[in-house]
Amino acid sequence: MIDLIDKQKLPRHVAIIMDGNGRWAKERGKDRLFGHQHGVISVREVVEGCAEIGIEYLTLYAFSTENWNRPESEVKGLMELLVATIRKEAESLHRNGVKLHVIGDLQSLPEACVDELNEAMAITAGNTTLNLILALSYSSKWEIVDAARKIAHKVITGELTEAEINEDAFKQCLATAEFPDPELMIRTSGEHRISNFLLFQLAYAELYFTHTHWPDFRKENLYEAVLNYQNRERRFGKISEQLRKEA
Ligand code: FPP
Repeated sequence: MIDLIDKQKLPRHVAIIMDGNGRWAKERGKDRLFGHQHGVISVREVVEGCAEIGIEYLTLYAFSTENWNRPESEVKGLMELLVATIRKEAESLHRNGVKLHVIGDLQSLPEACVDELNEAMAITAGNTTLNLILALSYSSKWEIVDAARKIAHKVITGELTEAEINEDAFKQCLATAEFPDPELMIRTSGEHRISNFLLFQLAYAELYFTHTHWPDFRKENLYEAVLNYQNRERRFGKISEQLRKEA
């Protein structure tokens, strides 16, 4: 399948809502954490898969602001899994040229988690093969409100005038300021929702939904999504004839 992918028409940025860990575990008579643990294998697969075909940015929705409302044992288990995975994988990410970034309300994360993330980000800071962006304690509404606060602050301090507030100035205040917008958003496990994920940045993204639960998601599933994306016509509000003339 990898041979069918057109390297000239790759999405630069792929964003993924990793859904279905709980259902996958339940189908096997196991607890939810068992599903999350297996989800880590899929994370490794898509990171490798993106690096292999040359995708530059991969954003993974690992923990939403709303996920704090889950049972305490699951939240604790997820945080521990995150810390352990980052610790275990940081060197291998580095060897493979992956640069780690985090977006979200980091102040709400446990200190051990923030320390581990900071260390992994420092180790991988100089890498250029793939930017891996973890959305942690992230919600898009939080991010947009936070950006509005930053814009207001810039106006108050005279850094920006009211007339200078435009799309670009706003983008610069989002947590994703240094990344291009995703062209492809994948959600696993059959739900057709955006769930408070990159609402501003996904304005023109192609959305791809699959029934595969996240722990079953492998490189081939990623390639299938990319191929599906490459067979779509992206019009950005224009009509097909205009696009053909421009080509
Ligand atoms: C959604 O499935 C998954 C999560 C909320 C957590 C995702 C976390 C991982 C895959 C592990 C750690 C990740 C990294 C980046 C190291 P769900 O629990 O909502 O499943 P359900 O909808 O079937 O209940």
